[in-house]
Amino acid sequence: MKITIIGTGYVGLVTGACLAEVGHDVFCLDVDQRKIAILNSGGIPIHEPGLDEVVARNVAAGRLRFSTDVEASVAHGDVQFIAVGTPPDEDGSADLQYVVAAARNIGKYMTSFKVVVDKSTVPVGTADRVSAAIAEELKSRQSALDFAVTSNPEFLKEGAAVADFMKPDRLVIGHANDTQGLRAQQIMREVYASFESAGHKIYWMDVRSAEFTKYAANAMLATRISFMNELANLADKVGVDIDAVRQGIGSDPRIGPGFLMAGCGYGGSCFPKDVQALVKTSQEYDYELKILRAVEEVNENQKHVLGSKIFAKYGKNLQGLKFALWGLAFKPDTDDMRAASSRVLIQELLRAGAHIVAFDPVATEEAQRVLALDFADAPVLLNQIHFARDAQTALSDADALVIVTEWKIFRSAELETIKSTLKHPVIFDGRNLFDPRTVKSLGMEYYPIGRAV
Ligand code: NAD
Ligand code: UGA
Repeated sequence: MKITIIGTGYVGLVTGACLAEVGHDVFCLDVDQRKIAILNSGGIPIHEPGLDEVVARNVAAGRLRFSTDVEASVAHGDVQFIAVGTPPDEDGSADLQYVVAAARNIGKYMTSFKVVVDKSTVPVGTADRVSAAIAEELKSRQSALDFAVTSNPEFLKEGAAVADFMKPDRLVIGHANDTQGLRAQQIMREVYASFESAGHKIYWMDVRSAEFTKYAANAMLATRISFMNELANLADKVGVDIDAVRQGIGSDPRIGPGFLMAGCGYGGSCFPKDVQALVKTSQEYDYELKILRAVEEVNENQKHVLGSKIFAKYGKNLQGLKFALWGLAFKPDTDDMRAASSRVLIQELLRAGAHIVAFDPVATEEAQRVLALDFADAPVLLNQIHFARDAQTALSDADALVIVTEWKIFRSAELETIKSTLKHPVIFDGRNLFDPRTVKSLGMEYYPIGRAV
């Protein structure tokens, strides 16, 4: 099938490359000329394991191309996926300006029936806005062309995006039940035919329910994390090991083992903004989502939990102290720094006078870019942070190690080496990477999250 992807970011690029991988003829559009130039010269603008191979294979096979040509992109695809960003507006609601601009372009240039697919995470009712924008453009051209808008939210995780897309737990597709909606359903079935025949279930539903499902999924996952973080904070006080509790409750199939890791807060481009947007939607409908407001608040506090443990040990003035910081990205296997917990901790430590030597396997460059913005009011403080070329170098001469991101190489680090390289054998662990008994048996001070054993 001929498919166009509008917006070649994380989701658009993965969707385009993976749909080409299953045999479709894919055209990826972006307004960002730099991104398209990188892709057209054989590069990949993001760090995502395995994506480079899928892109290269499909470009070579002639099934995947990248362009900034809007008219050509509309002409190409019978199916037009909208995968542009939906960042938070000032009031927390999803900013739909990029989605509406993409829809307008479709209406402006289409010359045949199109299935328009909302792939971006968008609030309930957005498909109606997309329809209205396309219809308005068609009207101004005095065109009577037909189209149908469907909702097909994406559930991939950064760092595992290709695997998540190719082997989805489920596919959710919302469509209308009128003639055009049912025509769109048949076309969407063809788009995902190879997934369905490989046993991946498609949940067909109405468009609004599909839009809502995406927010419900992210809100539920964020709630699990904040709930575990609250329990972990209490576990610290009452002398309980939250990791034992995690195993104890996760073995109940009604609860399940995933997404129960306590830590120093969730970050990323999606949980924070999607929780906020759903709260905003509820307010628009005169309903208060009390649980989600608490989820947000707990997460904001949790980003300070490492700082609090550090201040409790050393006092508020950290001058003369040097901290090794392992992990900058909001999670492993990505260079994404959006809403990363490391940014809150770095603010606290540098403003209290500490020095930091940080190491992240891939996010250093992106961290430097965002920290310049975070410290725009006090750029001189950035002289107190340096970036090491490997994990061990960061440790050298440091008063303590602070772990913020759960990269595999940190988990497999030799505790003896950490101990002998640090100036003082102290670890603040925001991701509970080690067994507290083992660390303590080596004569190290260990401050994990909720593991008071
Ligand atoms: P992104 O910022 O990485 O990419 C969006 C791209 O769209 C950018 O490259 C931008 O230049 C481009 N763009 C903006 N307006 C355009 C236009 N009119 N025409 C063509 N291109 C345009 O964003 P992302 O992380 O891929 O997220 C996209 C959507 O998918 C969001 O709604 C997000 O919530 C959702 N989502 C993201 C993830 C994730 O892991 N990143 C997972 C699931 C869902
Ligand atoms: C999340 C969802 O997992 C995806 O299904 C969804 O498609 C995506 O958001 C989206 O809508 O964009 P992502 O943000 O890439 O994916 O990363 P996650 O693996 O979910 O991690 C998010 C944050 O939660 C990270 O900061 C991670 O450290 C934290 N986390 C995760 C915990 O603190 N505890 C856990 O048990 C799991």
